[in-house]
Amino acid sequence: MAFSNTLIFWYLQNNRELPWRKTKNPYFVWLSEIMLQQTRVAQGLPYFLKFTEAFPTVFDLAKAEENTVLKLWQGLGYYSRARNLHFTAKHIASELNGEFPDNYKELLQLKGIGDYTASAIASICFNKPNAVVDGNVYRVLSRYFGIKTPINSSAGIKEFKALAQTLIDSKQPGTYNQAIMDFGALHCKPQNPLCHSCPLANSCVALEKKLIKELPIKEKK
Ligand code: ADE
Repeated sequence: MAFSNTLIFWYLQNNRELPWRKTKNPYFVWLSEIMLQQTRVAQGLPYFLKFTEAFPTVFDLAKAEENTVLKLWQGLGYYSRARNLHFTAKHIASELNGEFPDNYKELLQLKGIGDYTASAIASICFNKPNAVVDGNVYRVLSRYFGIKTPINSSAGIKEFKALAQTLIDSKQPGTYNQAIMDFGALHCKPQNPLCHSCPLANSCVALEKKLIKELPIKEKK
């Protein structure tokens, strides 16, 4: 598929060097994905480094006192993320022998792991073709395909998830998922996207129809 190949090609030249990308260790990938929800990479990165230094493995996190975990989390906000993280670390350490499930369905059973995180871990660590949909993905897809369905409507959530699932590169799903997220964060940005140097410009519907500023559409609730 031209769309996915173009994104992967772009990613190979432009990806951000992030510590959790150096490995496929599901513990690191899980930590990074939980931390980066509602949080920018630049803000989350120092927390990732602090956490992995304090708790190099899921067993170390499981053994920690909840207060220690919450203290290290201080400043990131949404503390339920930290509590769920600790709960799930204890579950994985004691019930799963320290091993993360290797597929979307079982990952989804874990506390604090929803559709996004289960897809991210399954694809990045275990090469499973589960597409992630985050704010970056909504923006890139709505613009490129000219989709006006509100991204926060139940119809929109379904439509974008189904579309993302058809676009994923089945040979390198983790690379594809991270490529589209990085592309949205760095190139197809909310404000001032870099359309003049965009590798997808010649087939982008929003660019052709002058809808870049309008898309994605979010409905007021
Ligand atoms: N934002 C959250 N997780 C990400 C990832 N793995 N790659 C790019 N952006 C992200």
